[in-house]
Amino acid sequence: MTFMLDKVVPWGRSFTEYVDMFALSDDDLGKHILGCGDGPSSFNCICTRKGGHVVSIDPLYKFSAAEIQSRIKDTYAEIIEQTAKNKHEFVWNTISSVEQLGAVRMAAMNDFLSDYEQGRKQGCYIESQLPNLPFADRQFDIALSSHFLFLYSSQLSEEFHVESIYELCRVATEARIFPLLELGSKKSRHLQKIYDILQQAGFTVSIENVAYEFQKGGNEMMRVVVD
Ligand SMILES: C[S@@+](CC[C@H](N)C(=O)[O-])C[C@H]1O[C@@H](n2cnc3c(N)ncnc32)[C@H](O)[C@@H]1O
Repeated sequence: MTFMLDKVVPWGRSFTEYVDMFALSDDDLGKHILGCGDGPSSFNCICTRKGGHVVSIDPLYKFSAAEIQSRIKDTYAEIIEQTAKNKHEFVWNTISSVEQLGAVRMAAMNDFLSDYEQGRKQGCYIESQLPNLPFADRQFDIALSSHFLFLYSSQLSEEFHVESIYELCRVATEARIFPLLELGSKKSRHLQKIYDILQQAGFTVSIENVAYEFQKGGNEMMRVVVD
């Protein structure tokens, strides 16, 4: 599938949001982490600055910083407008307004942009996509998927989800996925089936409450451990 920048809406969360979404402890942050579909989030940049070891993959990384920045500029106002229209779908306590949301996201994306070209040269940002990753078995301790799996359940099939989660569990000893909601703040239509499939395949699967909720009802993470 060709990945066209003009179809992409680049939007990235912050390091702090990743820590809360995935309940990452200080011990976790010292491990080898793979971020799948990290887009223009600042998780990699800030974690690396703090001495961590993160590799991010995303089809978006075929583009230069200037191209991604220009696309952010083109789509930013539209995303903010859409969020304002659907304000009732979100919880406004940590982030208290649409304006603050814009500022938090923009700060995260600027951190990403300032790190991206150098990080790409060092292999921290790799152009790749689920369900096939260019890594060895168990190369990472933890694989994260933020706002990709489950969120796009109406576009991505159950089969795609299963293949992708198996792949995360091939390259890492543990996978964490957040949120478990699809767009529209409804529980993912694939969640129960995938939970059962993973359990039957012998993985230890749990659904855990986390200290992060922005989409209403989106305060749960799936943890899949490879025994
Ligand atoms: C909504 S953004 C989330 C960005 C970031 N994870 C965050 O939470 O801020 C979804 C990301 O998934 C990426 N993506 C699209 N198809 C993908 C695939 N097949 N495998 C991995 N990532 C993909 C997009 O390029 C985009 O950056």
